[in-house]
Amino acid sequence: MFSTAFEHLKHGLLTLCVSLVFLLSLFRFCSASTPLHPSELREVRRVPPRFSIPPTDNEIMPGGSVNITCVAVGSPMPYVKWMLGAEDLTPEDDMPIGRNVLELTDVRQSANYTCVAMSTLGVIEAVAQITVKALPKAPGTPVVTERTATSITLTWDSGNPEPVSYYIIQHKSKYLDDLYKEIDGVATTRYSVGGLSPYSDYEFRVVAVNNIGRGPPSEIIEAKTAEQAPSTAPRQVRGHMMSATTAVIQWDEPEEPNGQIMGYRVYYTMDSSQHVNLWEKQIVRGSNFVTIQGLIPNKTYYIKVLAYTSVGDGPLSPELQIIAKTGGGFAFIFFSKCVSV
Ligand SMILES: *[C@@H]1O[C@H](CO)[C@@H](O)[C@H](O)[C@H]1NC(C)=O
Ligand SMILES: *[C@@H]1O[C@H](CO)[C@@H](O)[C@H](O)[C@H]1NC(C)=O
Ligand SMILES: *[C@@H]1O[C@H](CO)[C@@H](O)[C@H](O)[C@H]1NC(C)=O
Repeated sequence: MFSTAFEHLKHGLLTLCVSLVFLLSLFRFCSASTPLHPSELREVRRVPPRFSIPPTDNEIMPGGSVNITCVAVGSPMPYVKWMLGAEDLTPEDDMPIGRNVLELTDVRQSANYTCVAMSTLGVIEAVAQITVKALPKAPGTPVVTERTATSITLTWDSGNPEPVSYYIIQHKSKYLDDLYKEIDGVATTRYSVGGLSPYSDYEFRVVAVNNIGRGPPSEIIEAKTAEQAPSTAPRQVRGHMMSATTAVIQWDEPEEPNGQIMGYRVYYTMDSSQHVNLWEKQIVRGSNFVTIQGLIPNKTYYIKVLAYTSVGDGPLSPELQIIAKTGGGFAFIFFSKCVSV
């Protein structure tokens, strides 16, 4: 049973082999019966030039070197030459076939080099852009977009078509002969410089940095921070009696007005245990003293002064005590007592 099946298989395989051999010989016979003429052979293999390795763009350091390879194929094989603009860089009588490597050394300037491949079937070109890296250019003059009493927000134009690594913001007080303080590693073209003093003039400029180094600074922009309420009280509050019922109170401007002082409020009372809002008060604009009339003779008065800007009130001065009393028609200065408020 098994051997019969085997015989069948063997027979089948043999038949198959015979058929294959027949087919193959038939194919051979057919191909051999139509030989190609040499002229037709050349016709089929004519291929216009194309770049198999097109030249690549390169970024190099100033004074650097680079080899740019350009390989073109075709049938017939194309000549390959390099050009810079209209100038031929490859001698006409020594033009390589298929492959041409342009060796550039001590490159100082960016340029576009053109690889040209040509045969009787055509001329093709490819451009390699060689960019010499340089220090970044100065960014555009910064613009102030926001101000608070302690911060200035700047935006600026990069000024560089090539990407820069980051920016440095330099700032200093306008009137002090300071060195610039620097904020390093600013990745965006907008930044809020904090930690500034209120109502103060500053100068800002921006520097772009790339992997070669720092470029030149931008133009300077001046900006003043916004006002704030004074952060200290009027100084040296003092008083004297013009008569038994009239006192003159004087003071000096606070050390940190933080803006333009719009005026002062002078509070006075005989009962210093009351909240200061319940004391008598006088508003003073444009001067540093006030005359208080209608005091009760021989009474002790308590006096406090504050300065205010358009933004708000500063702290109250320490308490001044005076006794409404005169001697022999002369004005007396009584004592002032410093009390922290
Ligand atoms: C460019 O090729 C030349 C010759 O092969 C070689 O001496 C040189 O080191 C190459 N320069 C670069 C930058 O690859
Ligand atoms: C090279 O060509 C590019 C694209 O056309 C152009 O932007 C660039 O300015 C050229 N570079 C030089 C150095 O001519
Ligand atoms: C004020 O006190 C003095 C003595 O210290 C006294 O001579 C005078 O009469 C008093 N004045 C009034 C208005 O009480």
